[in-house]
Amino acid sequence: MILAIHNLCTAFPGPNGLILAANQVNLQLRSGVTLGLLGESGSGKSITCRSIVGLVPKPGEILNGEIEFEGRSLRRLDSQGWRKVRGSKIGMIFQDPMSALNPTHKIGNQIAEVLTTKLGIPRRKAVTEAIALLTKVGIASPSRHFHSYPHELSGGMRQRVLIACAIAAKPRLLIADEPTTALDVTVQAQILRLLIDLKVEIDMAMILISHDFGVVAQYCDEVAVMYAGCVVEYGSVVDIFENPLHPYTKALLRSIPKLTGHEDRGLLPIKGQPPDLGQLPTGCPFAPRCDRAGSACSNVDMSLSGANDAHLSACPF
Ligand SMILES: Nc1ncnc2c1ncn2[C@@H]1O[C@H](COP(=O)(O)OP(=O)(O)OP(=O)(O)O)[C@@H](O)[C@H]1O
Ligand SMILES: [Mg+2]
Repeated sequence: MILAIHNLCTAFPGPNGLILAANQVNLQLRSGVTLGLLGESGSGKSITCRSIVGLVPKPGEILNGEIEFEGRSLRRLDSQGWRKVRGSKIGMIFQDPMSALNPTHKIGNQIAEVLTTKLGIPRRKAVTEAIALLTKVGIASPSRHFHSYPHELSGGMRQRVLIACAIAAKPRLLIADEPTTALDVTVQAQILRLLIDLKVEIDMAMILISHDFGVVAQYCDEVAVMYAGCVVEYGSVVDIFENPLHPYTKALLRSIPKLTGHEDRGLLPIKGQPPDLGQLPTGCPFAPRCDRAGSACSNVDMSLSGANDAHLSACPF
């Protein structure tokens, strides 16, 4: 087990009290596995991952829970401890590639800096390795592009540079938060393929955040579905897509278009509004939108259970 999250609660202050962006999240990740985090906008995917690496934006904070990485608690790290983990043992690619690169530094130097600061590699060697990394992530003419500035690159190339920075120190875990949302479909497929190839080559675990079912189905081994800060279902990619247990996962699957097969049942959008995290009902947050909801749903505690440990749901009914 490389990562184990127990009862993570991360909150922001809201007008009517705390907003739980991550609500008793439990997740486990084995080495070499790609876990997809799926859920609509605002469901807590990014905040869960930011909690792992201690980068919850203020005024948000972790209220409760335990995060174990390679058997060590990350919550008790001091800033020096974080420097040894972040960017070295855990690589990160966050949403918004434009702001993640420094616009005033050559891209090659940004990669080389990861190698000098995180691995203590001497500058000359770091430059050579940075060029090798540019090659690895598919940047043509790497020696020339070493000297490019971020604005001189296309969106896809910038994303490749971010990937090079994230994997430079050969992390054990890579967190990729919607790494391809800003890119067109062809480039998106190339970048995701690259991430998976690198994952295998470096033998790292990966958390891939997406709200795209197709991306998760194609590139992930396991899936956690989030709704209103809670993980509502967890299972293998086959379990989730072929035998979904939670009504929210089922509703999500009914709401996406299918190009294959001859099912002519049309699309069924999920009824009701996305949840207001500041005004959730007691019990299951999905109940107001659930076809099968009954009075017992207000007593559901959202803990995951299932007939086997590999496929779990927060809905007991
Ligand atoms: N900087 C912030 N200040 C206040 N509240 C925040 C902030 N960031 C997130 N939140 C709250 O946390 C919730 C979860 O946010 P998060 O960014 O994790 O969603 P997400 O699932 O990553 O959505 P998206 O798919 O749009 O990226 C939001 O609905 C919001 O209520
Ligand atoms: Mg997000």
